[in-house]
Amino acid sequence: MKVTVVSGSHRTPSQSMKVSEHIRGALEATGGFSEVEIFGLNDNPLPLWDQGVWEGAARWSELLDPLRARLQASDAFVIVSPEWHGQVPAGLKNFFLLCSARELGHKPALIVTVSSGDGGSYPVAELRMSSYKNNRLCYLPEHVIIRNVERVLNEDAADNDSAADQYFRARIAWNLEILHAYALALKGVRESGITHNDLFKNGM
Ligand SMILES: Cc1cc2nc3c(=O)[nH]c(=O)nc-3n(C[C@H](O)[C@H](O)[C@H](O)COP(=O)(O)O)c2cc1C
Repeated sequence: MKVTVVSGSHRTPSQSMKVSEHIRGALEATGGFSEVEIFGLNDNPLPLWDQGVWEGAARWSELLDPLRARLQASDAFVIVSPEWHGQVPAGLKNFFLLCSARELGHKPALIVTVSSGDGGSYPVAELRMSSYKNNRLCYLPEHVIIRNVERVLNEDAADNDSAADQYFRARIAWNLEILHAYALALKGVRESGITHNDLFKNGM
């Protein structure tokens, strides 16, 4: 089974990528998933959606077909989002515009949000409210909000607030175990065929 970590920050370097790398390591350590990939939105690899996406323009197919194949091969996702001005970064929302149920539908996803201060709750609310309707991604009831991110998950222990660091490492590890259990369960749901219905191609 494959899991893809989507790192939602446009910046290089970013704390979101640091967190994503930690999550990749934690996923590889548990061995539940046989393949772990990070897809980073750093440096804006995806142009903003335009009508060419729906018209199958060659420039979009060249860009999106390989990405679609990578995402379709995934059984689960971790969506890592920083809080930027109280929002999810535009590049991450654009990612959801460019993805469909063929890539994400009825697959579990863990939300992990990141803030250098006390933020991080707005992107959780935004993702849960407006990122899954048509692509039918299934967010777990659990999520992780990493506040004061610069003081946790650093390789050098001297840079970490030790109590907070231990807490987040343990909480992330537990949430990744839950993600794996959902990935196993939802594979059966997809394979049953019940999720496909030509009458109801979009969510309400
Ligand atoms: C454009 C921008 C807006 C930001 N707005 C917020 C905010 O509203 N709330 C917050 O807690 N942090 C905010 N931050 C700080 C981020 O929490 C901080 O940059 C953190 O490292 C996560 O972002 P990163 O993954 O891009 O590094 C903002 C950062 C940027 C670059």
